[in-house]
Amino acid sequence: MGCLNKLTVAFAVLSVTAGKELGAKAAVRKLPEGLQFGAATASFQVEGGWNASDKSPSIWDTFCEIPGKIKDGTDGRDTCKSYEYYQRDIEMLKFLGVDFYRFSISWPRVLPTGFADKISKDGIGYYSKLVDELLANGIEPVATLYHWDLPQSLQDLGGWANPLIADWFEDYARVLYDALGDRVKLWLTLNEPKQFAIYGYGTEAFAPNINSPGIGDYMAVKNLLLAHARAWHLYDKEYRQKQNGSCGITIASDFSEGASDSPADIEAGNLALDFEIGFYSHPIFSSTGGFPESVVKRVAERSAAQGFPRSRLPELTKDEIEFIRGTSDFYGFNHYSTRFYTAADYKPGMFDVPSYNDDVGAVSGRGDYVTAPNGYTTKISAGIRKALNWIKDSYNSPEIMIFENGYGDFGGIDDFDRIDYYKEYLDAILDAIEVDGCRITKYTAWSLMDNFEWSQGLSVKFGLFEVDYEDEKRTRRPKTSALWYRNLIASRVLDPADNPKPENLEF
Ligand SMILES: *[C@@H]1O[C@H](CO)[C@@H](O)[C@H](O)[C@H]1NC(C)=O
Ligand SMILES: *[C@@H]1O[C@H](CO)[C@@H](O)[C@H](O)[C@H]1NC(C)=O
Repeated sequence: MGCLNKLTVAFAVLSVTAGKELGAKAAVRKLPEGLQFGAATASFQVEGGWNASDKSPSIWDTFCEIPGKIKDGTDGRDTCKSYEYYQRDIEMLKFLGVDFYRFSISWPRVLPTGFADKISKDGIGYYSKLVDELLANGIEPVATLYHWDLPQSLQDLGGWANPLIADWFEDYARVLYDALGDRVKLWLTLNEPKQFAIYGYGTEAFAPNINSPGIGDYMAVKNLLLAHARAWHLYDKEYRQKQNGSCGITIASDFSEGASDSPADIEAGNLALDFEIGFYSHPIFSSTGGFPESVVKRVAERSAAQGFPRSRLPELTKDEIEFIRGTSDFYGFNHYSTRFYTAADYKPGMFDVPSYNDDVGAVSGRGDYVTAPNGYTTKISAGIRKALNWIKDSYNSPEIMIFENGYGDFGGIDDFDRIDYYKEYLDAILDAIEVDGCRITKYTAWSLMDNFEWSQGLSVKFGLFEVDYEDEKRTRRPKTSALWYRNLIASRVLDPADNPKPENLEF
């Protein structure tokens, strides 16, 4: 990035902090009354038990077997062994004092064929026990139906690129509402649509490794929206009244903004927001429904210029737009960092043509922010406040539940960088609630414990608890951040000066 851009990025940073009184960060802040706290994991990342009982392989089991796909050569066969040791996970959650636990359900563990013809007794039994023990300990279960571990058998038929996935997903959802809905009152249909559709079907970075950029990924986007809507309508029509719960989606995005205040960069940042957040949110949360106009227009233009007789972005029919619109009881949001977009640095051909990145058509980076030496996530806390406000302003102030926020590093019990990250992001979230009027009711730390971080394997750590992978029993130890999170929840105060000393505890 050139000198000019550095200057303009610095300007953007100044203007971010200018609105806020100096010294505000140092204040001890009371947490708003209605804000609940939780911790999250996902089935493939923590369960292990990859071939336990009648479980069939998921697309991530398959992906891990391809040499070179996982950075450190590890796989998800055992990871944290939560399938075996989930009771210890519950002890850890009790230690933290969280209100809720967000976990996900492994589709091939519950339905080994992928279809609802045979329900695994052991698979359903596992989640049923988990839910019972959470409730017995006063922790609300929050269940995600799909956090990326699709049955391989369904991928063999096209997976998310096959429109029939909407039938299969609805059938799977029904099995879970029937089996657990008497006790689970908060359902998430899909976790992070962009990440599994664009990276999984448009690149080789994620399972199922379908490298169909700008085509297969967009087929998956359309189908996942319809599948999500089917699962929500099913809950709404047949379960809501008797089970009295709620159901929604959770969408992950960095915040996107122009790297400078030049009109071209500002426009690039805004278009990136439409692609990164609006693509999945506008169809569900906007008053008109459908994909954002800017995205439809851009992909159509690029497709025409590339010689395609029709847009690579499949159309949503009028009926489909109506069917998808309004299908989430709240806005689930996962967030980690911010990217700054520079229009002028973009050269046609620098990405695959066609591709998602080429359609976005700008180069992005973290601006002048630096990642800490032992860090993986770049801390840009102003971005979460802007993102929450963007959601509020774009979609008529929905109830927002933050279902993931956290900091990746490369390990260590004394994780002060992680505590700093949480403090700054929570400070920005409290501003979003108290100053801006965003309706935020849940905050979730990603993650309860170190786990299998997808293509990064075990090399990147997001946990409040460390997991000893050398140990057969996968002993877990609280990091300093776990002690800090416990204090935050118990005191209901965000205290910038709270820096706990490590305690030697094992779970
Ligand atoms: C499950 O996989 C492990 C290797 O991770 C193997 O030792 C074991 O025999 C397998 N169990 C079954 C039931 O296939
Ligand atoms: C449904 O849940 C709400 C709180 O979410 C509660 O106020 C209401 O009484 C419940 N209704 C039934 C029928 O259980």
